[in-house]
Amino acid sequence: DHFYQIAIDGPAGAGKSTIAKLLSTNLAFTYIDTGAMYRAITYKILKQNVLLDNEHAMIALANQTEITIKNGRIFLDQEDVTELIRSEKVTKGVSIVASVKEIREEMVRLQKRISQHSHVVMDGRDIGTVVLSKADLKVFLTASVKERARRRFEEMREQEPDLQLQAIEEQIRQRDFVDENREHDPLTPANDAVHIDSTSLSIHEVVEKITQLFCEKI
Ligand code: C5P
Repeated sequence: DHFYQIAIDGPAGAGKSTIAKLLSTNLAFTYIDTGAMYRAITYKILKQNVLLDNEHAMIALANQTEITIKNGRIFLDQEDVTELIRSEKVTKGVSIVASVKEIREEMVRLQKRISQHSHVVMDGRDIGTVVLSKADLKVFLTASVKERARRRFEEMREQEPDLQLQAIEEQIRQRDFVDENREHDPLTPANDAVHIDSTSLSIHEVVEKITQLFCEKI
């Protein structure tokens, strides 16, 4: 049995999760949001007051953690944390946690395991390069940093009304910097990835484009 794999990577706020979700619905594939997994472990680390410079303690905690995904919800040790992991605090800390080699290894193992049982659309930073290195289609989705900040601003407005556009842009730049420059599995396009710049494309247009690419490939 061959299970189809579509990998979508790119920087923060490029629209990966919105697009991956729609794509998975259209194709009846399973959608795996790998960023949510790094966010879930970060949430636990912060909640237990483990310091982000204490790698040893972070790894120990990650080893005693169960992360599961079901029907688009993410569970941390059986607790539904789907909304909790979107807080600003988690967003600020997640790239530090995601730079720890042992934590990445654990997450990658889990992600690979999930993709063995179903057709998947997976989004993240290292999907085309590491997790699904033989994916049927790899997309590297980008947009200008201004546009990505604007989108995140609209998305966060209700939850965090005090957040300023400027601050979001700064956060996005910092997170991209850490993600692109870390030692282990940095954010970088796979050699065989198709680049799509979504700055002036609608969500629908991007989904159409990826669907077309996938149909051509298989
Ligand atoms: O996709 P999202 O913005 O939710 O990802 C949160 C963070 O998780 C990223 O900024 C990155 O540090 C980390 N991440 C990662 N590898 C992935 C997915 C996310 O390092 N495959």
